[in-house]
Amino acid sequence: MSAVEFDQERESAGTSVGSAYADSEPLSGTRALAKPRSMAGVIGNADVLVDLFRMIDRVADTTCTVLVTGESGTGKELVAKAVHEASPRASRPFVAVNCGAIPEALLESELFGHVRGAFTGAHATKVGRIGVCQGGTLFLDEVGELPLSLQVKLLRLLQSHEFSPVGDSKTYKADVRIVAATNVDLEEAVASGRFREDLFYRLNVIHLQVPALRDRREDIPALVDYFFESAGKRLGRPGMALSSDALRALLEWNWPGNVRELENTIERALLLAPASIIEVRDLPTKIRGLGTENRPGAALPDGGVDLRNAVEQFENNLIRQALERTAWNKNQAARLLGLNRTTLVEMLKRKRMGAKVA
Ligand SMILES: Nc1ncnc2c1ncn2[C@@H]1O[C@H](COP(=O)(O)OP(=O)(O)OP(=O)(O)O)[C@@H](O)[C@H]1O
Ligand SMILES: [Mg+2]
Repeated sequence: MSAVEFDQERESAGTSVGSAYADSEPLSGTRALAKPRSMAGVIGNADVLVDLFRMIDRVADTTCTVLVTGESGTGKELVAKAVHEASPRASRPFVAVNCGAIPEALLESELFGHVRGAFTGAHATKVGRIGVCQGGTLFLDEVGELPLSLQVKLLRLLQSHEFSPVGDSKTYKADVRIVAATNVDLEEAVASGRFREDLFYRLNVIHLQVPALRDRREDIPALVDYFFESAGKRLGRPGMALSSDALRALLEWNWPGNVRELENTIERALLLAPASIIEVRDLPTKIRGLGTENRPGAALPDGGVDLRNAVEQFENNLIRQALERTAWNKNQAARLLGLNRTTLVEMLKRKRMGAKVA
């Protein structure tokens, strides 16, 4: 897929951003900015993401090894698939191996295969993932978890494009393009001796950094729209919409779990919302933030309100947000709240707010 195509893909599909929003109240920095682009299912319009699309497009044609880094849930696997799908190998297999999820004793045979009798229990010859992947793309997820013994074998594969199944003295040619991913700092792993430096350089020929969602909040409306459409159909709740307050709460949240957390939040809201419009109250408590019910000037409910309780809740909510946004840095949180640090610390003590805030 070319850079121009990824630009136009969703537009030609007739999807317009904002279609899922319930009211027409203009929200600066959200709907107006978002014209979604996508590349092989990776949705995003932020400059950092468009740069990533360009990089994917540029490297796809080559057989260079690619290292995809980013926090958990940012879309590393999706990016790896986009590299594959934009490459001449698209019609060949994309084979993913999670190096962190397969026990060390099995991983070698899983990757390289084994011959009959290679070890106890090897009753038949088995083709490994590299064999299955011939002509395609091998995605090595959580590559930082690869044991040192297998790092040597992977290095050999990258250098000579050859491999030997376990128990086989012959070598075979491997025609695989390697895309690896990690959410750990590989340079640090190299420094501490857990990862081979030569392998790191071999893997890191092209580095694709997938940005955290909090660093591209402008993509949230487009992603919400996308999840409404895809999950709405799957969960049997099509045509759902989001109130502007709920969108505002989503835009304010820090998203430590990135796009995966957003996807789960939308799915949960789609399932639980009693009406066709998702309101702030349908979002998880931690995300609710400054929705209508927490905003100054919120409408007085018919049945009245417990003022002290409401004010306390409002205060706690803002403090919690400030702390979460600053990763519990009390100096920075106090600044966000217009307080000095001592006052904030005293308030936390009085409110018995420890590491977790109710
Ligand atoms: N830009 C995006 N557009 C659409 N969906 C996305 C995007 N990024 C991530 N997702 C979705 O979020 C979920 C997590 O993505 P993915 O598994 O690729 O993340 P990851 O970085 O590999 O996470 P982990 O480090 O936990 O393995 C998937 O369901 C994926 O489809
Ligand atoms: Mg992953």
